[in-house]
Amino acid sequence: MRFDIISCQPDLLDSPFSHSILKRAQQKNLVEIHIHDLRKYAVNKHGQIDDYAFGGGAGMVMMIEPIDKCISALKAERNYDAVIYMTPDGQTLNQSIVNQFSLLQNIIIICGHYKGVDERVRQQFVTHEISIGDYVLSGGELGAAVLTDAIIRIIPGVLNDESSALTDSFQDGLLAPPVYTRPAEYKGLQVPEILLSGDAPKIEQWRFEQAIERTKQRRPDLLDG
Ligand code: ADE
Repeated sequence: MRFDIISCQPDLLDSPFSHSILKRAQQKNLVEIHIHDLRKYAVNKHGQIDDYAFGGGAGMVMMIEPIDKCISALKAERNYDAVIYMTPDGQTLNQSIVNQFSLLQNIIIICGHYKGVDERVRQQFVTHEISIGDYVLSGGELGAAVLTDAIIRIIPGVLNDESSALTDSFQDGLLAPPVYTRPAEYKGLQVPEILLSGDAPKIEQWRFEQAIERTKQRRPDLLDG
């Protein structure tokens, strides 16, 4: 799977993709992540990529031309299944959306800044608009990193078996059950007996019940329907 991320602050994206699982996924050739500096497609030699909003008001608007040029250059090389714009007024990200994106081959992600992109970018190029929550970030980069991480970790072969994504919270519509590791007792705090019993079916049943209980208490909305 290939990600092309368009950003005017590409340095912000260096770190998330150079560690741990995301780094390994790239080394295993399961994913390619390419970051594109929007300023390379600036409208003049001063590196301009934004301008004042027509009609007035505070804040700059990202211009259509640099984004058009960058996307056109990418599309000349290959087909894309989705062009995602990270924006607080997009559809709120959840596991089901992540699962659907994980089935695609080539994705472009546009990171917004300032007041966002010229509306014509959204009309012309964008196929999906995604928010990572009801709060406003300084730019779309952190959102793009969140989205990319969530997608990549469920691509088959990325996680090793012991950290399988199938038992993640949300994958079965439930929050994950509590987990414990050694020691079995710490300062009088005990691990539930059942987990030490070696009885796999009973442990499975216990985990399921705990997952339901936790979901009921913390996220009853997930159980609706
Ligand atoms: N850009 C600014 N805020 C954002 C959010 N909440 N989600 C995605 N992109 C954003």
